[in-house]
Amino acid sequence: MRRRGSKIFYSLLILIMVTFFVLTINIYTGPYTQYENENESIPRPWKPESSELKKRRDLSLKEIWLQKRINRNRGAFSKFKGIYVREAYRVSDEEIRFIYLENQDNDMTLKAQISPSVGWQPVEYSCFNATCFDYLFCSMATRFGSVKLAPTTPHQPYIHLTTEKSDEFTMVPVNDVRLHPTSHRYPHTLGVCLQPIFFFTDWTVILQFFESWIAQGATKFYFYLHSYTWQTKRVLDFYKDSLGDNLEFIDWSDLPVHVRDKGSYDRDPNSRVFRHAATAFMHDCMLRARSHVKFVANTDLDDLAVSSSLNISDFLENASVRHSDAAQFKVDWILSHQPQNWDPIKNPKDVNFVLQSVRVLKIANIRYDYRVSKKMFHRPERVTNFDMHSVYRNELAGNRNQQYTTVEMFDNPDLYFLHLRRFERHLLNPLPVEFNNNFNGSLLMKLNTRMLDQLAKRIDRTEFAESPLIPWTMEARQTMRDLEQCRREAFGSILDDQNQMCQQSSSGCEGMLTAGVPFIKAPQTWINIAHKALFNTYVEKTEKFSLFS
Ligand SMILES: *[C@@H]1O[C@H](CO)[C@@H](O)[C@H](O)[C@H]1NC(C)=O
Ligand SMILES: *[C@@H]1O[C@H](CO)[C@@H](O)[C@H](O)[C@H]1NC(C)=O
Ligand SMILES: *[C@@H]1O[C@H](CO)[C@@H](O)[C@H](O)[C@H]1NC(C)=O
Ligand SMILES: *[C@@H]1O[C@H](CO)[C@@H](O)[C@H](O)[C@H]1NC(C)=O
Ligand SMILES: *[C@@H]1O[C@H](CO)[C@@H](O)[C@H](O)[C@H]1NC(C)=O
Repeated sequence: MRRRGSKIFYSLLILIMVTFFVLTINIYTGPYTQYENENESIPRPWKPESSELKKRRDLSLKEIWLQKRINRNRGAFSKFKGIYVREAYRVSDEEIRFIYLENQDNDMTLKAQISPSVGWQPVEYSCFNATCFDYLFCSMATRFGSVKLAPTTPHQPYIHLTTEKSDEFTMVPVNDVRLHPTSHRYPHTLGVCLQPIFFFTDWTVILQFFESWIAQGATKFYFYLHSYTWQTKRVLDFYKDSLGDNLEFIDWSDLPVHVRDKGSYDRDPNSRVFRHAATAFMHDCMLRARSHVKFVANTDLDDLAVSSSLNISDFLENASVRHSDAAQFKVDWILSHQPQNWDPIKNPKDVNFVLQSVRVLKIANIRYDYRVSKKMFHRPERVTNFDMHSVYRNELAGNRNQQYTTVEMFDNPDLYFLHLRRFERHLLNPLPVEFNNNFNGSLLMKLNTRMLDQLAKRIDRTEFAESPLIPWTMEARQTMRDLEQCRREAFGSILDDQNQMCQQSSSGCEGMLTAGVPFIKAPQTWINIAHKALFNTYVEKTEKFSLFS
C-alpha cells in the first residue's frame, strides 16, 4: 500500500534519489514524441502478465517518489481528486469493464456493486504500464477497471460504483457486448471509430470521410463529438438521417470543472488530459463495438483508407481466414499531401474530393516517427490495450495461454492508409518537398468517382444539397492554425520536455482559439465518482422509523 505520511522521510530520500534518477530516467512519451532519427530507441511496450490486474502496488518506490516530485513541482500533487467514468461494458459472462480517468498519483480504491443483493467488491484495475502515466506529461491517467462476476449473473443495465471513503454511490450504465459463445453473427463486418472531433470547422472532410469508407464497405460508424461548428452539425444531421442506426454519435465532453477553475493549469483537470482523452476514447469505442462489428478501424478524419479492390471488408475477411488468430492487421500509414481548395465550396453540392490531386511524399522526406508509424484494423473482442499506432496487449486466444496476434501487412499495395495532413511542414525534412512519382494514382481516381456517385445519389433532391454552409473558410484556416500551435505552446509557456507540462490538452488549446467561432459543445458526459458533496439520505432512512414508537 502507498501511504501519504512520513513527508520528512520521503523528502530526504527524494533529495538523494531524484538527483540520481533525474539523470537516468528516460521518460517515454509514446509515438507522439518527435523522434528525430532512427537511432532513437522506440519504447518497448510493457507486457503485463495475467496477474497484473491488481496493480500500482507493484510500482517501484523510486518511480513513485520521482512522479510525486514532478507533480509537486507542477502543482499537480493532491489537487486533482476526481475519478471520472462514463459507461461500462459486460464483456463476458464473468466480467464487466470500464475505462476511467484519474490523476496518476490518486490512490483511492474503487468499489463496485453489481446488484443490491450482492455486496460491494473492490474494482481491479490496470494501466498501460507500471507508472500509469499518460502521454506527453499529462498526469490524468487512463485506467481500465474490471469487476469479476459469477458467470450466471443475469445482465443488469447499471452497476454501482463508489470509492472506499464515500457513502454515496454512482449508477453507471452497462452495455452488454458479450459474443454468442458458439455461433456469433456480427451485424457489421467493417466499422470505424472516429477520434472525437475537437473545435472542428472543416465540414467538407466529413463528407470525404463517410463516402470513402462507405465506398469500400464500412457499414457502422462510431462518431465521437467534443466541439464543432453549426455547419458541421448540419452535415452530421444529414448523415444521421441517411445512415440511421448505423451511425452512432457519442458525446465526449471535457471533464467537469468549476467555472472558477476553468482554463487554470493548476486547477482545471482538463489541463492534464492528453488530447481530450484520446486514449480513453479509443478503448471506449473498441469496447462499444464488441459483438457488433467484426473489424474496426481506429482513425482520424484525415486518414484515408485505400484498398486496391475498393473493398476493405472483403479484404479483411479473406485475411482473417488466413490468420485465424489475428487480433489486428497493421498496415502502412503514408504521409500525403491533399491540396485544399476551400474557397469555392459554399454548399455540399460543391464538394468533389479531388483525390486525384493527392500526392504521396517521398519516404526520405518524412520525419522518422511518421515514416514508421502504422495504422490498424482491430477485432474489437481480441484487443486489450493499444494506441493509434501500437498494440500493448491482446486478449488470450481461447483456452491457450497465448495472446491473439498482430499481423503486419507492410508494403502491401492492397491495403494502406494515406495520411492527408494539412499542416505537415514540421513533419517534413528536408525541404523542399519531393513526391513519390511511382505512386499509382489511378486507384484514387476510381475511388473518387465511386464516392462522387454515392454522394450525388445521397443528396439528390434534398434540401441539404444546396444549403449554404458559409462563411467558413477564413475561420477554419485560423482555427486549424491555432490548434496546430497549441501542440507547441499553452498557458503562456512553450511545451517541451524541459518544463514537463502536459501537452495538447483541451484546456490548453481552447484559450488559444482566436477566430471567434462559436462552437457547439458536447453536453457533460463524465461522472465524478469521487465527488465531495454529500446528499441528505435521511428521507430514505426515516421510512424505517416511526416517530411514535
Ligand atoms: C508509461 O507510459 C507512458 C505513456 O503512456 C510514458 O509517458 C511513461 O513514461 C511510461 N513509463 C514507463 C516506466 O515506461
Ligand atoms: C544510426 O546508427 C547507425 C549504426 O550505428 C549509423 O551508421 C548511422 O549513421 C546512425 N544514423 C544516425 C542518423 O545517427
Ligand atoms: C465487398 O465484397 C463483398 C463480398 O464479395 C460484397 O458482398 C460487398 O458488396 C462488397 N462491398 C463493396 C463496397 O464493394
Ligand atoms: C477474397 O477471396 C475471394 C475468394 O478467394 C476472392 O474472389 C476475392 O477476390 C478476395 N477479395 C479480396 C479483396 O482479396
Ligand atoms: C494502377 O492501378 C490500376 C487499378 O486501379 C491498374 O489497373 C493499373 O494497372 C495500375 N498501374 C500500374 C502502373 O501499376
